[in-house]
Amino acid sequence: MTDEQLHYYRLRAGEYDATAFGDVAAASERIARIVGAMRPAGRVLEIACGTGMWTSALAAAADSVTAIDAAPEALAIARDRVRAENVRFEVADVFTYRPGVRFDTIFFSAWLSHVPAARFGEFWAALGGLLAGGGRVLFVDEPVSERAKETYISDEVVERHLRDGRAFRVVKNFIDPGDLVVRLRRLGWECTMTRDDDAWTWVCGSARQVK
Ligand SMILES: C[S@@+](CC[C@H](N)C(=O)[O-])C[C@H]1O[C@@H](n2cnc3c(N)ncnc32)[C@H](O)[C@@H]1O
Repeated sequence: MTDEQLHYYRLRAGEYDATAFGDVAAASERIARIVGAMRPAGRVLEIACGTGMWTSALAAAADSVTAIDAAPEALAIARDRVRAENVRFEVADVFTYRPGVRFDTIFFSAWLSHVPAARFGEFWAALGGLLAGGGRVLFVDEPVSERAKETYISDEVVERHLRDGRAFRVVKNFIDPGDLVVRLRRLGWECTMTRDDDAWTWVCGSARQVK
């Protein structure tokens, strides 16, 4: 399943900004506001950075940003978009990424909802191994109230289409903030969630390891 969703995002890269954000300039302003409020700091790892829509805002606040994505096609767009000197892009699969260094902030947008439920624990354990002491995980995603906009073919799998009509199966676990806080606490993370309502709704999370 994760292979098919990566294939989908590789093929979608060229149409992603238009279909995900619509008005890219307006989205960039909103993103800058949200990232500014989350206060990322120090050495930042951005996971699944896609076309780099969040990367510039992170770079403005961070000492350095390492931005990874498994789709080279998306990274090519991100490299063209983001010229900040403190940003380094890398093609990498988040499930196998072992850079040998730790980060003060780990950020991801529209990624957690694509993590299969069966890999949720593995994913957060990997984050723990990437985070420096006292560091924070910051994330933005879509809340469960947006679920109706997808066509579910099983519990956590939706069918998505590219503009040319090709269909793909993608994991989409919309975020239930209360449920997420409880699940993370069981894994040793203290998480606070906020909500950002604008053109469409996002939820924002900030998590620290407590054990
Ligand atoms: C919904 S997009 C989010 C992109 C960006 N964070 C944003 O909000 O605009 C999901 C991204 O996850 C990437 N991705 C999918 N599987 C991945 C994996 N195993 N490792 C790293 N990135 C992956 C895709 O290539 C895609 O760019």
